[in-house]
Order: sequence, then C-alpha cells, then structure tokens
Amino acid sequence: MTVKPLTATASGPLTGDVRVPGDKSISHRALMLSAIAVGESRVEGLLEGEDVLCTAAAMRALGAEIERDDNGVWHIWGRGVGGLQEPANVLDMGNSGTAARLLLGLLATHPLTATMTGDESLRGRPMGRVTKPLGEMGAAFTGRSDLSGKGRDLLPLTIQGSDSPIPITYRLPVASAQVKSAVLLAGLNTPGETTVIEPAHTRDHSELMLRHFGARIKVEETSEGRATTLTGQPELTGRDITVPADPSSAAFPSVAALLSPGSEITLRAVGMNPHRIGLYITLREMGANIEFTNEREEGGEPVADLIVRAGPLQGIEVPAERAPSMIDEYPVLAMAAACAEGTTVMRGLAELRVKECDRLAATARGLEACGVKVEEGEDSLIVHGVGAAAGYRPEGGGTVATHFDHRIAMSFLVLGLVSKAPVTVDDATAIDTSFPDFQRLMTGLGAHVFARNAPVPSGA
Ligand code: S3P
Repeated sequence: MTVKPLTATASGPLTGDVRVPGDKSISHRALMLSAIAVGESRVEGLLEGEDVLCTAAAMRALGAEIERDDNGVWHIWGRGVGGLQEPANVLDMGNSGTAARLLLGLLATHPLTATMTGDESLRGRPMGRVTKPLGEMGAAFTGRSDLSGKGRDLLPLTIQGSDSPIPITYRLPVASAQVKSAVLLAGLNTPGETTVIEPAHTRDHSELMLRHFGARIKVEETSEGRATTLTGQPELTGRDITVPADPSSAAFPSVAALLSPGSEITLRAVGMNPHRIGLYITLREMGANIEFTNEREEGGEPVADLIVRAGPLQGIEVPAERAPSMIDEYPVLAMAAACAEGTTVMRGLAELRVKECDRLAATARGLEACGVKVEEGEDSLIVHGVGAAAGYRPEGGGTVATHFDHRIAMSFLVLGLVSKAPVTVDDATAIDTSFPDFQRLMTGLGAHVFARNAPVPSGA
C-alpha cells in the first residue's frame, strides 16, 4: 500500500472564502434512504469522499440505481422499504464505521445474506454494539473473532437478515448515533413500533431525514432519556436533499485560522445542527472569534456562514456531557488547546478509543512528539497549552503516526501551520475518506502543506 507523508510548516495569515465538502453523516444517510424510497431522489452537495463512494457502491450492489450527472447532482432510484436485493459479492465499506453499522441495520430486516468487510482500521472496530440489538430483532451474524477471543463481532462479518423481524425497545448502552440509527433503520421493515432510548442526545440526522422521506417518528423525553419511536413499514417516497458543508471538516480550517495570527476566513453553508456544533461552542468559550452569519435552513438542516478571525485562546474545562456533539472534534480541539494559554481538560472521551483509531492515544502521542505536555487518562485528556510565553506556538518538529485516521492527519497538519518547526504526518491518504481536496483548500487559504519530497514553499 502506498503511503503519503505530508508536512505542514509555519504559514502567514489565512484568508479566503470557501466551502468545505458535504457532510459525511448526512451523505451516507441520503444514499441509504434514497435507495429504499420509491421513485427518484436527487442529492446535491453529496460528499464525494471515499467513504461515501463505498456506500454508493454498496447501495448499487443491493439493487438501487445511482447516477451522478455532469452538474455533480446524484440521482437515486430506490427499491422501496424491504426491497433491497441480495448482493452478488462482498460489500466493502472502506474506512467507514457509520456506513457499516447503518447498513447492517438496514440489512437486518431484509431476508437476505450479505458479507461485509472494510479496510484494516474498520476491520478492527467493534460491531457488537449493533449486532446485539439487531440480533434481538431477528438477524443472525457470523463475524471474525477479536484478538482477545471474547467476541466474534469484527468484519468480515456475514449477516443473515430476518424474514419475520421483531420490533424492540432498545436502551443504548453508549451514546452513539450510529447504533441509534442502525436500530431505527432496521425498524423500517419491521411491523409495529421500534423505539430507541438514548442516555445523551446524539446527532439526529437519521430522524430528520426519515421524516423528510415520509416516515413517522415520535420523540419523547422520558426519565430514562430521549425516546425515539419509528412506526414500521412506511412508504418512503423519493425526495430532494441538499447536503450542508460538514461542520466536522470545517473544524480544520477554522482552528487553523484561529491559531494563525492575522487570519480571517469565511466558510459557507456549514451545517449547524445543534447536536454537531459542540466544538464551535467550546472554541468560543476559549475566546475564539467565530461569527455565525446568514443563518438559514437548507434541506431540513440549519446552516450558517462562519467567519473565523484569529486571536489568542484560553484553556478551559470542556463539559463531559458535550462530548456527543463534538465527538469527532477532540483531536483538532487538542491542537487549539496545545497553543492556548493554560490547561484544557477534556473528559468523557471513552468513545474516542474505538474510532478510526484510538484517537485519545494517537492525539496524546502526537502532541508529545511536538513538545506539548499532555496527561492521558482512561477516558480523559489534559493538554497544557504553551500560551503567550511561547508566542502560542508549540515546538513541533515531530513525525506523527496517523494510524490511517483522517482526523488525526488533518489535526496535526493544522498544528504544523503554527508550530516553530514543521510537523509531518506519516500518511495522509486517509484524508480522502472525508475531505478530498483538503490540501488544495488549505493551500488556497495560504497554508503551507506539502508532500515531504516536494519543494518547500517560499517563506516556510
Ligand atoms: C456518526 C456518529 C458518530 C461519529 C461518526 C459519525 C454518524 O459515531 O463519530 O463519525 O454519522 O452517525 P457514534 O455515534 O458511534 O459516536
């Protein structure tokens, strides 16, 4: 496998007006729901990253017709609820836990057999969190055993969907939108009501989009948490969807601009779903100058244009209950914390250990390699910012192991832009899973990000 090291070096102010690619969570859901709706759906702004392209290929293999026109609009002709066909080959979900888990949900209540695999990172991620509730609904699974020998819930995994699915009420043991969505999607081809109760609010893109396609979804606050109930066997009808720019991708140029003195950038049409914007709330609490302008709704999701201006940041204690709304943003928040004045305390991070890699450990090791003091706990990270005494610029100089994790790669490239010495990531290929063109977009804003053997930009 070819690896692609990238290096980022101290850059001047970042300036420009850009739109980052479409939201990954919403893009997966748009393809999956369109594939089980009747008639044509049109999706604009779909993320054309590797993860989402894997989902498109999987939905085609399951019988949906999918075409991209010359204007970049995706057209999907779905098969109706319960209408997916048995795939002729193994489904390869690439790097995406979301795609794998949501699709297992859909397949669980189709009477078919399918085998799913993924890349090395995905083949190491636990699927037991979805096979357990989906098993209660009647599906059967045979997975690969993990190294401890305790579970058989790793990909490659074969699912035998149920031909007489059972509706369940499921209390999520972990705050996970992926698990919630998998159960709700399985509920689509199940008679009666399927309910998921979540202890903490997680992103609700599945619920919003299911309603958009015509499903009946009821949400109630109960003493046990938020209960979401789906009425099974609805007729879903093809719809138009506009995918907002991904707030998780916008996080990288945002933090880069905040940390690079003199910067001012505008990021267009960024998704502002309240369950996704914990990073921006946290950065503002740290003193960041981030303006949300032109707030509006596009395709059922709130969006805004963000104006981000550089300025010094102050370390804070991030409330643990905010974690679900910024779960993918802790690595890049840790970069902001590394530059800030004082200490930033992040707790409630256990889920970071089972993302594309163990992001808690990867962030801690990378920061140490760049001369930043950190304390890594079982589910916490404390970062001691270098602050004003160091001109808000960490030492840098490290080569960071990304473990094929896109967000680790992009986070440390952001750090390299403001470090005293360049920061290299050992392999940036995973960035294409969520943010194709990251290097070009950042370079366009004035950032120095280049392949290690390419000429160093002047002034770097
Ligand atoms: C996602 C949910 C989150 C997040 C992932 C995308 C989704 O995972 O980390 O990148 O689209 O539902 P969990 O809900 O499992 O924490």
